[in-house]
Amino acid sequence: MIIHPVIKGQVAKSCHPVGCGRAVAEQIAYVRQAPQIAKGPRKVLVLGASSGFGLASRIALAFGGARADSIGVAFERGPSEKGVGTAGWYNLVHFSHQAEKEGLIARDFVGDAFSQEMRARVADYIREDFGGSVDLVVYSLATGARPDPQTGELIRSAIKPIGGQTCGYSIDLERDCLEQQCLPAATDQEIEDTVKVMGGEDWVSWIRFLDGEGLLAEGCQTLAFSYVGPECTHAIYHEGTLGRAKAHLHRSADKIDAALEVIGGQAHVVVCKALVTKASVFIPGLSPYLLALFRVMKEMGLHEGCIEQMQRLYADNIYRADGVIPVDGERLVRIDDREMRADVQAQVTQILAQMTPETFRQLGDYDGYKGDFMKLNGFGFDDVNYDQDVDLDPFDAA
Ligand code: NAI
Repeated sequence: MIIHPVIKGQVAKSCHPVGCGRAVAEQIAYVRQAPQIAKGPRKVLVLGASSGFGLASRIALAFGGARADSIGVAFERGPSEKGVGTAGWYNLVHFSHQAEKEGLIARDFVGDAFSQEMRARVADYIREDFGGSVDLVVYSLATGARPDPQTGELIRSAIKPIGGQTCGYSIDLERDCLEQQCLPAATDQEIEDTVKVMGGEDWVSWIRFLDGEGLLAEGCQTLAFSYVGPECTHAIYHEGTLGRAKAHLHRSADKIDAALEVIGGQAHVVVCKALVTKASVFIPGLSPYLLALFRVMKEMGLHEGCIEQMQRLYADNIYRADGVIPVDGERLVRIDDREMRADVQAQVTQILAQMTPETFRQLGDYDGYKGDFMKLNGFGFDDVNYDQDVDLDPFDAA
């Protein structure tokens, strides 16, 4: 099968199995030479392990010093008569292959992390084949919908402002243009639903379940990810439906933290830098900000991608030599510190003031943004021949 990129709006409709392998290999190469995670965990469960921060966490913890065994849970599709499947599928296959070559355990569960069935399958595996417990649980799910735990009915999140409409540009990656988009204020139901989908309820439920089954090791850590961002993104994020969901996530961390005290465990929310991931390209109004931010941070030598963020998170924050996890006044771990620097934000604000559909390619880092998006799907690697036939058989079972 010859596979070329197919993009519809903000969605990649194809992915390249060999290119996905390159992306995983690049991340592994980065963490091998970066400052190492000295006192890391041994047994890790990553929920949302196939892309973005979840995949980068797993790579950092396996190859960036800790040599952790890992279980990855993700919702992905392999190759079939319907098509090539999803990039995350190939990321899992490549990661596990590399980890096993290194003598590490890497076990993947593909299916719905919100389901009871998935909890039971993971628990059985931890008990029977993974040494009986985990010492880190990374909660990195990002999704637009989840089934209601009581009724099974599908609940959908809505990315909307609260209180009034907001307008901003979003990027059409298919046509390489900026488009003005206005979003109406969310209804109360939409706010509630977004909190259900992207808040902390499911994280609490996973930890409660694993704890109840006696599968959390003494001193177990658990993490989830959040975003705060500067003022110009607040209407669509921090003060919108997603922000409400994140506020719920932050409160959930405190709840879990208190519950883990008996086993000497801790729960933290990590505030990350804004990045191009499968999920973030859907947030209207965020793209122009990302274009300006990437340009400024690259020029200042401060830019980081998912893998740089995650390696720094574990090496310098969660598993520091002195055992202290640095937090802000709200007990949040801030690895968005470079993004939020006053000098970075001052320059970003200047660029944004001049950004229009005519100027965005000159003013912002559109090539970098699009390049990251293409790489998420295995495209744009110089050493991959995209005209060559790809044999999908070896990827048939993750
Ligand atoms: P992503 O889209 O790259 O990865 C999401 C993961 O969740 C994938 O592994 C996917 O398979 C999995 N998943 C989704 N639904 C699932 C289900 N029902 N069952 C099992 N697995 C499922 O997302 P990204 O961007 O890495 O986001 C992870 C977290 O980081 C989110 O909480 C997000 O809000 C947060 N974050 C993202 C930022 C960004 O700029 N991308 C910035 C700061 C925080």
